[in-house]
Amino acid sequence: MRHYENPEYTSENRLPPRSYYIPEGKSEYRLLNGPWSFAYFDRDIDVPEKIEKWESIPVPSCWQLHGYENPNYTNLNYPFPCDQPYVPDDNPCGVYQRNFEIVKKWGKIYFGLEGVSSCAYVYINGQYVGFTMGSHLRAEFDITDFVTEGSNTVTVKVLKWCCCSYLETQDFFRFNGIFRDVYLLQRPKDHLYDIEIIPNAENISVKADKIADISIYQGEQLLTKTTGKSEFTFSPENPVLWNAEKPFLYTVVLERDGEIISIKTGMRSISISNMFELLINGVSVKIRGVNHHDTSKFRGWCMSQEELRKDLELMKDLNINAVRTSHYPPHPSFIQMCDEMGFYVICETDIETHAFMRRHPKTAHTFDVDSNDWPCVDPKWGREFLERMQRMVEVFKNCPSVIMWSTGNESGHGFNHVRMINWTRNRDASRLIHCEDASTKGEIHNADVYSRMYIDLDNLKKFVESNEIDMPVFLCEYSHAMGNGPGDVFAYNEFFDKCPKMIGGCVWEWADHVVTVDGVQKYGGDFPGELTHDGNFCCDGMVFADRSLKAGSYEVKAAYQPIKTKLEDGKLHIYNRLSFTNLNEYTFRYWIEVDGVKTQEHTEVLPAEPQSWVSVDVPYEITECRHSVYLNTELYKNGKVYAITQHELPANKLQEAEKAPAKLTEDKENIYASGDRFSYVFSKHYGIFTSIVVDGQEQLATRPLITAFRAPTDNDIYLKPRWAFTNVIDGENLDRSFTKVYDCTIRDGKIVVNGSVAGVSRLPFFRYTQIVQIWEDGTVDYDLQGTVRKDTIWLPRFGLEFTLPQESNTFRYYGHGPIESYADMCHWAPVGMYESTADQEYVNYVRPQEHGNHNGVKMLQIGNLEFLSDTGMEINVSNYSTQAIYKAEHTDELQRDGNIHLRIDYKVAGIGSHSCGPGLAWKYTVGEKEIHFTFQMKPYTKG
Ligand code: GAL
Ligand code: MG
Repeated sequence: MRHYENPEYTSENRLPPRSYYIPEGKSEYRLLNGPWSFAYFDRDIDVPEKIEKWESIPVPSCWQLHGYENPNYTNLNYPFPCDQPYVPDDNPCGVYQRNFEIVKKWGKIYFGLEGVSSCAYVYINGQYVGFTMGSHLRAEFDITDFVTEGSNTVTVKVLKWCCCSYLETQDFFRFNGIFRDVYLLQRPKDHLYDIEIIPNAENISVKADKIADISIYQGEQLLTKTTGKSEFTFSPENPVLWNAEKPFLYTVVLERDGEIISIKTGMRSISISNMFELLINGVSVKIRGVNHHDTSKFRGWCMSQEELRKDLELMKDLNINAVRTSHYPPHPSFIQMCDEMGFYVICETDIETHAFMRRHPKTAHTFDVDSNDWPCVDPKWGREFLERMQRMVEVFKNCPSVIMWSTGNESGHGFNHVRMINWTRNRDASRLIHCEDASTKGEIHNADVYSRMYIDLDNLKKFVESNEIDMPVFLCEYSHAMGNGPGDVFAYNEFFDKCPKMIGGCVWEWADHVVTVDGVQKYGGDFPGELTHDGNFCCDGMVFADRSLKAGSYEVKAAYQPIKTKLEDGKLHIYNRLSFTNLNEYTFRYWIEVDGVKTQEHTEVLPAEPQSWVSVDVPYEITECRHSVYLNTELYKNGKVYAITQHELPANKLQEAEKAPAKLTEDKENIYASGDRFSYVFSKHYGIFTSIVVDGQEQLATRPLITAFRAPTDNDIYLKPRWAFTNVIDGENLDRSFTKVYDCTIRDGKIVVNGSVAGVSRLPFFRYTQIVQIWEDGTVDYDLQGTVRKDTIWLPRFGLEFTLPQESNTFRYYGHGPIESYADMCHWAPVGMYESTADQEYVNYVRPQEHGNHNGVKMLQIGNLEFLSDTGMEINVSNYSTQAIYKAEHTDELQRDGNIHLRIDYKVAGIGSHSCGPGLAWKYTVGEKEIHFTFQMKPYTKG
């Protein structure tokens, strides 16, 4: 056994964990970030060994992103054999070195690492100091006896793997190196070590390991001061409590021997009501959360303070109120930002052994903990499990934002977890304990919340509403946001609101993980030498890697928004979903739009207590419209909109003038119709238009087709083999479909086509009658009616695909927009009148896929054509054909063909989150067996 393969010996000389603070005053804190000398070896070397060739690497960074090894993304498999605690004999190693000055050595000197993967051996001036494992857990060493005044050298040897790599098989790129801050501290010889200010709602209670002068401030104002105490409890007269909506902080300052330690604390309580609600300060709170990994578009695990802060700011904009630090503790300053900005934190320690289930082909998909060889039931791992919990709890115990401690992720459940939970409960009874793995193990369930991931709504409802579970229910992961999505987050949150015991959940996950090469976002399988990878499963963020937003981001925003509204008895009723904020801190506006044109507007500051309704009168007289009339609302603050809702109002539809049918002529091949502004050719051979000329301009590039395929989204992953040709026999081969015309005739002045649509080698999935009536002004009434074969899988969409010339690039529509929208993902896409271009419709998903749809569209003007639907159709305008999008695996492979691709659809299936979540809810599929699709097409002149 090599030194780094012993799970009972995972550190040496590492100091015990302590609460996080940066001492000031006389003390010196110095970051050693910046360029370091670096030498990479493809197997472990002894240090200090004479290293002849040094290169340079920035610290912090991940060495795979600096030319040492290729990146590797693996989720479910260990990147090495599962032979714990052993790792491959050729264990790559990076040696970091730099100098630092100690101008004056007057106190205790420490060396600290906030994050290093997978383990680090520390040397000062060539002398061994100690070592540590635990990639995302801070480690400090006392180096007082190793440093001298003047120049010193620090060397850190980092190994790619160690025994603890078995505990760190989180779903991410497997990076190595010193990826978080490195620092030096010089402090008075007899300094304070640990300081405990565990928040509660009654007082501020300070415990230190030595005496100090303790002052407590509210803002700049000194509330109290005591001298020479190691314990001090103070009850402010009118305490201002902390919560995520109003994160009020007090400052505790401890002074001793010229050192000043300032710690922000918040006063708050956490409890569970008799209905199993989560109470913060006695008030029921819903967790509207997200899972946060450290991931940057260019720098892997390495995130700057600014990037971390920006993430939280963006979360605030998206109405997110909670963060689960999946699946390891973050940089401590991230939690401090949560304290300060207001988030509820589920603080999770650095343990995941998910890949252990892949050790044996027979159990490859199960947590077969009963086999009794999982690390969680292996005594030799006991200490390391426990220490990982302690190294989190001790560091973050003073942070008011932390409301739950989590034992890690997907590691089975065993006595090693039980020890972690028992220790934590003993150490800090003020917070809840989360252990998802425990939840499915009824008999040893010993956490404080019942936690599940990706359970479908129906099953969730069933067991939550039964009396089986006498705990708050929490979804530590739900609504898998991969690619185009998530589409189901709204429905979950409607249920959370209704059910007291449902305390909410965290969307999986915050941002896409990618490695950007020459501007192209890459994922698993894109790099030479990956022995095992999980493809683009890492691209599952609710925001893109560069933190730009997609429709799914806005859908989460809508699901989490502070209000909901209903229109009843001529009044608009507004519900304040917040727990601590009166709605009068926002401005509320409503306005009425007739066919997308604003007709009246009203702005008001509405007082509404948290979790209560308020009503406003909406004077409205029924008006006439061409499409529809909507009441729109929004809630905003400081120029930022936090909520939008929309209600359709009754209206009278404008009647169209009577008109006569156009005269049809025919020859063997075609049927012809023409008038002042138009001339159409309808092919009897193909049963569809082959030429549509309006105002002298040909509108078609090629003839339209009846189709049902869409380039599968990541959430369509399990449907893809059922829809597309894969050589697996159960697909409908919709991507290779034929439109057949059985006959095409003129009957009663209308064109009638009977036909079918079928995938290659398959029975037709659709048999239809198509009736086309052309009027004298060029208006076309299109009517398609038919039956879907009984045993066909539900369709991804159904409608007509047109190819238009490039001139039809710009368009205008009345429907859900301006962002893309789908049946289940349109809550932040209000119905309105919008203008767009094919370019603007493109959405840069890491793996190209279906995008750019608009549902509920009643009108589209494109080229010289206007499409109309009373009941609402779906449209999609793109520079890319479905096939081109389907074929491309990366954005740089996407090919344009010079045409504009237009879909006029009866329906497009919703989005859901099936890539890891439940299947798409039936009501959002195109599963009906009878389809009747009508729309109108008219000549149209822009202007
Ligand atoms: C969960 C896991 C996450 C992530 C997700 C899929 O099972 O906890 O870490 O892998 O699935 O994206
Ligand atoms: Mg996992």
